[in-house]
Amino acid sequence: MQNFTFYNPVKIIFGKGSIPKLGGEAARAGRKALLIYGGGSIKNNGVHEAVTDSLVKNGITVVEHAGVKPNPVLTHAREGVKKAKENGCDIMIAAGGGSVIDEAKAIAAGARYDGDLWDFFSGRAAIKDALPVFTVLTIPATGSEMNQGCVITNEVTKQKFSTVSPKIFPKVSILDPETTLTLPAIQVANGGVDALAHLIEGYFTTRDADVTITDELVHAIARSVISGTDRIRVNPGDYDARASMMWSATLALNGLQSLGYGGTSFANHAIEHSLSALYDIAHGAGLAIIIPAWFKYHLKTDGPGRLEKFGSAVFGVKTAEETITAFEKWFGKIGEPTRLSEAKIPAADIPEIAENAMGLIKRWGMSYDLKTVEEILKKAK
Ligand code: NZQ
Ligand code: ZN
Repeated sequence: MQNFTFYNPVKIIFGKGSIPKLGGEAARAGRKALLIYGGGSIKNNGVHEAVTDSLVKNGITVVEHAGVKPNPVLTHAREGVKKAKENGCDIMIAAGGGSVIDEAKAIAAGARYDGDLWDFFSGRAAIKDALPVFTVLTIPATGSEMNQGCVITNEVTKQKFSTVSPKIFPKVSILDPETTLTLPAIQVANGGVDALAHLIEGYFTTRDADVTITDELVHAIARSVISGTDRIRVNPGDYDARASMMWSATLALNGLQSLGYGGTSFANHAIEHSLSALYDIAHGAGLAIIIPAWFKYHLKTDGPGRLEKFGSAVFGVKTAEETITAFEKWFGKIGEPTRLSEAKIPAADIPEIAENAMGLIKRWGMSYDLKTVEEILKKAK
């Protein structure tokens, strides 16, 4: 087990009926909120009303920044920074999924910076300060509600890059599973794939294969993500499945999932971000395409050991090949594509996708070269 430092200061308020607690929490940090949300789901399911009620009751003035896109884009985040600065907002309220939370984190940092927001993503500057962020999560998927990461797409350069800073950990995140009852089935599936992907990245790239506690934690969360997704598919009104799913996805990327591993990398994410940057497909769908292909590459380079261990603990299968098949079957069952062709991405684009992925691979300091990325993508044809 490798040495580690674990720091996670996010206060989680979990359970049905917990949105009214938002205002009291936020009022300790500021008086004027920028309320950031997406394309309108929170207006249809009552979350918008519950959030604004709670803020207003606690003396907080609300300025709105709506229209965050899935795979949030730089121009919209820049508009948010301008709005926050012009209106003197002192708190960020993100109500929605990972896209909304990520854009809120970006705006929070941009509002306390004189240069251009993209500097944080290109590596030109580090985040030294940020306005406090509060979140109301409406889709279990990214873990952004309890981590220090944030992903934005630069639509001009077609780069989907990330930045990380302890300054952008949310102060408080409200997780009310009832907010997820309105999620379309495919979004539940996308979230399930993403949470599973977050567990896989560390588990399969660990430098240290003897970290029992983290391995077992990963197995347990993975089983819970899979069973939660399956239960919700069968009965979308199953509150306990919604609740377990919500907390599982948060645990899948709040830092605990890779403690003690050392030297891990986000290989599947590095390649997937190019699919969502170039074709604007859902992050979860892109991962469902990349993961089986990456496993085939991993099996060749690293051997069957970890695949056998994971497959036995999570899917009840014996061999590495059976584990890969189990992933593919489950992705297919929940409606996800597992090949580029299923997402209508032509195989002829592979060189361009690989070239694009090299940007993030270099930014993340990974050792993959262009040939390797092309080799993985070819297995996803
Ligand atoms: O825009 P609205 O109308 O809100 O609709 C959203 C959106 O269309 C909808 N939705 C969300 N909650 C809903 C709902 N519809 C009905 N009822 C609800 N309760 O779902 C759609 C997808 O939302 P989005 O926020 O895009 O999903 P997700 O949470 O999967 O976020 C994806 C983004 O997060 C990034 C991804 O790359 C992608 O850009 N990630 C962020 C990470 C992080 N910060 O740690 C890590 C991840 O690996 C990931 O890269
Ligand atoms: Zn992800």
